[in-house]
Amino acid sequence: MTLILRQACVTDIPSIYRGEQDYIRCWESDHEDAWRRQLERHLTRWVENFDRLTVAIHEDQFAGYSLWMPEQEYAQLCTINVSPVCRRNGIGRALLNAYATTARHSGFTHLCLSVRPDNPARLMYEQAGFVRVGTDSHGYLRFERRADS
Ligand SMILES: CC(C)(COP(=O)(O)OP(=O)(O)OC[C@H]1O[C@@H](n2cnc3c(N)ncnc32)[C@H](O)[C@@H]1OP(=O)(O)O)[C@@H](O)C(=O)NCCC(=O)NCCS
Repeated sequence: MTLILRQACVTDIPSIYRGEQDYIRCWESDHEDAWRRQLERHLTRWVENFDRLTVAIHEDQFAGYSLWMPEQEYAQLCTINVSPVCRRNGIGRALLNAYATTARHSGFTHLCLSVRPDNPARLMYEQAGFVRVGTDSHGYLRFERRADS
């Protein structure tokens, strides 16, 4: 498998947009209208954070992405997505590792993320050493891990 991870650039935006739209439709369909109304804010956030937005290229094709942002003393994973045809090939794991590495190089010692309890992505996080530390007011599970573990 040829997998390249690189920093995002502006030509990746349509693929990232489609990935986010698919995620919303699949997992947060009640929020699709609200997400769409905030599209300008999402676009701004992606473009302003290219240094934390990693893209996976598999066999020369766009295959996924992840974005993290500082949240107080934590580096928080905001989104991670792998194209449906590319899943279960280790690309999500590779993006997760890249997130931990760039966060550590940026001086963060701890990682955090939130996930719906019914999303199998939580198994990927648990396999990568994330530990559930609580549930927020919307029912999302919060997971944390050291950046260097
Ligand atoms: C979650 C997601 C990024 C995983 O990407 P992926 O490339 O398929 O993940 P990997 O192949 O690296 O999987 C790593 C491990 O995670 C676990 N895992 C991942 N997807 C799983 C699933 N659907 N069911 C069960 N376990 C799963 C497995 O333990 C897997 O290891 P294995 O294949 O050796 O058993 C992908 O399913 C996706 O894009 N989902 C839609 C977006 C989303 O829900 N993102 C998370 C928001 S919190």
